[in-house]
Amino acid sequence: MNASSGNDRPIGVFDSGVGGLTVVRALMERLPLESIVYFGDTARVPYGVKSVATIEHFTAQIVDFLLRREVKMLIVACNTMAAVALKTITARAGDIPVLDVIEAGARAAVDVSSGGRIGVIATPTTINSNAYARRIHALDPGARVYSQACPLFVPLVEEGWLDHPVTRLTAQEYLRPVLAEDVGSLVLGCTHYPLIKPLLREVAGEKVKLIDSAETTAELAADRLREAGLAASGLEPAAYRTFVTDVPLRFQTIGERFLGRSLGEVELVEW
Ligand code: DGL
Repeated sequence: MNASSGNDRPIGVFDSGVGGLTVVRALMERLPLESIVYFGDTARVPYGVKSVATIEHFTAQIVDFLLRREVKMLIVACNTMAAVALKTITARAGDIPVLDVIEAGARAAVDVSSGGRIGVIATPTTINSNAYARRIHALDPGARVYSQACPLFVPLVEEGWLDHPVTRLTAQEYLRPVLAEDVGSLVLGCTHYPLIKPLLREVAGEKVKLIDSAETTAELAADRLREAGLAASGLEPAAYRTFVTDVPLRFQTIGERFLGRSLGEVELVEW
């Protein structure tokens, strides 16, 4: 393999389902020359309420699938997988660089609220892992982190209730304890939450900065590709492939909402 064909290998992005397309969207905008292979485990979503052992097992299968497709970098778009299975991922990836949304979200939160009070909302598994608090404290030991699990948000977003009274009432309930701590920023620690950002903004108020890790992840990916000498040559147009483990049609419908543009063919994985 010569240097340019090596650099023209795709980036592998994966999530438990459709939500990771928010990261793909940011990558397409920031890195238009990069090819992307996306994997969404639609047969087994949601991960955010499953055990660590189960998530590790599923994650290992996804990583092996993407490595067989010769990706040059792995991006863990799922907060839940990043929270509990990062060691499994990096061990399998070997010298392929691995980026994840928790690192990106923690960095962005610390950048806008150094020494401050940071709220984190995410799935129950992510919150129970304490992964956000650990990563934020590693960057800023003085930060105060207030966490809240929001298990109902994923099904509400999947239902398309992005601006619905039920979602608004749910958000008011979930955010009340975090907002009572007078946080200056709120990390949207789940792939699905950027889709209800306008509603969360309304509930949290203008003073609270909402941290959406998709854009920061794309920035980190650009830096890491440059540092590693892995940026695409631009000789070939970027190619996008999407794999799911069940019901490609439903993925297509919801995915286009996440991506903000039409998806090409969605392929069903044959393990
Ligand atoms: N992708 C998951 C996350 O970001 C949300 C959906 C799920 O629970 O699988 O935590």
